[in-house]
Amino acid sequence: MKLVGLVGWRGMVGSVLLDRMQQEGDFPLIEPVFFSTSNAGGKAPAQARNESTLQDAYDIDALKRCDIILTAQGGDYTTEVFAKLRATGWNGHWIDAASTLRMKSDAVIVLDPVNLPVIQDALAKGGRNWIGGNCTVSCMLMGVGALYKAGLVEWMSTQTYQAASGGGAQHMRELLTQFGTLNAEVRDLLDDPKSAILEIDRRLLAKQRALTSTETAQFGAPLAGSLIPWIDKDLGVGKNRDDDGWGVSREEWKGGAETNKILGQGEGFALPAVPVDGFCVRVGAMRCHSQALLFKLKKNVPIADIEELIAQDNAWVQVVPNNREDTVRQLTPVAVTGTLNIPVGRLRKMAMGPEYLGAFTIGDQLLWGAAEPLRRMLRILLEA
Ligand code: HSE
Repeated sequence: MKLVGLVGWRGMVGSVLLDRMQQEGDFPLIEPVFFSTSNAGGKAPAQARNESTLQDAYDIDALKRCDIILTAQGGDYTTEVFAKLRATGWNGHWIDAASTLRMKSDAVIVLDPVNLPVIQDALAKGGRNWIGGNCTVSCMLMGVGALYKAGLVEWMSTQTYQAASGGGAQHMRELLTQFGTLNAEVRDLLDDPKSAILEIDRRLLAKQRALTSTETAQFGAPLAGSLIPWIDKDLGVGKNRDDDGWGVSREEWKGGAETNKILGQGEGFALPAVPVDGFCVRVGAMRCHSQALLFKLKKNVPIADIEELIAQDNAWVQVVPNNREDTVRQLTPVAVTGTLNIPVGRLRKMAMGPEYLGAFTIGDQLLWGAAEPLRRMLRILLEA
């Protein structure tokens, strides 16, 4: 039985991962070794069998014993440990949620319902590094990967509506606390049905603008009742405003770079990259990332054919009929959260012409966006 080291299992992604492993019966297939960055020597959780003591996550000798290491501990941990571990000659499989290694030439971004052939090809060539993709990209490709597989996409533009959870657990708490603060600020006026809405609005805005740096510590600006059109670092690439890629956020850059790498296109692959670009926006949703997509297709394909292609691509995608009732019921973060469903709706030809396709898709960023591709990669390795 393979010795599988689990690191970062207590955090938000790690906890979702453990739940999913439990639900899918992964634990009986492995001998889990639980690692900790803060509590080595403590008692491992209930899923442990022979390895019932928490191991030090920085102990390279302890890590080296594992056939497979699965980490959701974060990028700093990967940076600290991965190279040291490989330098000892450790030849095991490293499965990682962090972005640190994603674009390395010897790493595969894993999303097997979309890129199993890329994974299998790398496995056959001795690949050992398997990295989960950016949550927005993974959820998007689970929804519309079929259009790429069919070679239909000339380019794609994405406009995202990303949930607080993408920033981390503290970000979710901050958003909810802000909601509460704002509600409390106008509670008396809300309770009075005769109060003036513009008075509520004025008082609310004053409070939003008065939120302290502590109250906005995670996002850097109020998010409740607002939005923030910048996610992750400012890459500032290019020298002037007319350069390609000038002023792109790191999240937007990932959209293009990772989409192509997952699909096995672009640098290092035989197929050319497809241009993917857009704007990534943080909104006050909890843990589902939503995206409006605009495709330029290589040819005019009837909507019915597109719907069929998408619906048949994998077991989790669901085409939502493009009408108000179905959209409002099925195509919202609240409807999708906590499920593996990837609804794709609002499918329609746009006013620019019959090759321009619009779509809207949603995914739980902790499931398909983070934990699920990793546990599925573990299964692929166990079954290889
Ligand atoms: N970077 C993403 C976000 C989450 O901030 O929403 C991780 O992929």
